[in-house]
Amino acid sequence: MSEHMPGGRLPEDPSPEARFNALFDAWAATYDAVVSGADDEYAEVFAGYDRILERVAGEIDRPPGALVVEIGVGTGNLTQKLLARGYRVIGVEPSQAMRREARRKVPEADVREGSFLHLPLDEAGGEAYVDAFVSTYAFHHLTDAEKEMALRRMAARLAPEGRIVFADTVFADEAARQAVIEEARRRGFHQLLRDLEQEFYPLLSDLEDILARVGLHAVFERLNRYVWMWKAVRRRP
Ligand SMILES: C[S@@+](CC[C@H](N)C(=O)[O-])C[C@H]1O[C@@H](n2cnc3c(N)ncnc32)[C@H](O)[C@@H]1O
Repeated sequence: MSEHMPGGRLPEDPSPEARFNALFDAWAATYDAVVSGADDEYAEVFAGYDRILERVAGEIDRPPGALVVEIGVGTGNLTQKLLARGYRVIGVEPSQAMRREARRKVPEADVREGSFLHLPLDEAGGEAYVDAFVSTYAFHHLTDAEKEMALRRMAARLAPEGRIVFADTVFADEAARQAVIEEARRRGFHQLLRDLEQEFYPLLSDLEDILARVGLHAVFERLNRYVWMWKAVRRRP
């Protein structure tokens, strides 16, 4: 088991917000070491982590001051990059310890309690329409049905030129998923194996179908062995 992450079963509570809070509350203090390559089990997952976050920030391509909502901010690494580009950023994060860590590292950030399915946006306060939703390494915490619900809600709040830019683990097909599961088993990567078997990493085709059903057109690009970035805009009628 990884020394950086607590093991054990997922909590019984199936609510999408609370499902992973205990895990991430416990991981907050050592998360940044893991994304920097300190844990062999996750080295390939986080390979090129900083470059991946830069790519996501770069794909937003909206003018400074545009409203960017980042979901699942973790320790605030992408938040920092978004603020450096002059965006108005609302960070959303369900884990209390992660929120605390993000606020400590990025005191100027507006980090709010919430989740993909509960966006803490103030419609009356100028937050009804969003120029970009962004997220890295977080969307796989939702089941595919929840992913669809979350994307439908985001699509409904996109400003006319708005976009959704996400990067996360996606598998090209079932054979690709089974290959990494087999390899994790062979190398004794028990924590990674638990993640691969219990979290909700989508197949590329399933994600494409979900995006199409909610009326979004998306372009995908693979960024490392696990992570794909995709940028979605509303389909033109
Ligand atoms: C692996 S971390 C990624 C953190 C950061 N985005 C990054 O790229 O380093 C996943 C984050 O997603 C958050 N998360 C888990 N379930 C979520 C949900 N339903 N809605 C929003 N965020 C969630 C976790 O609390 C955690 O902070």
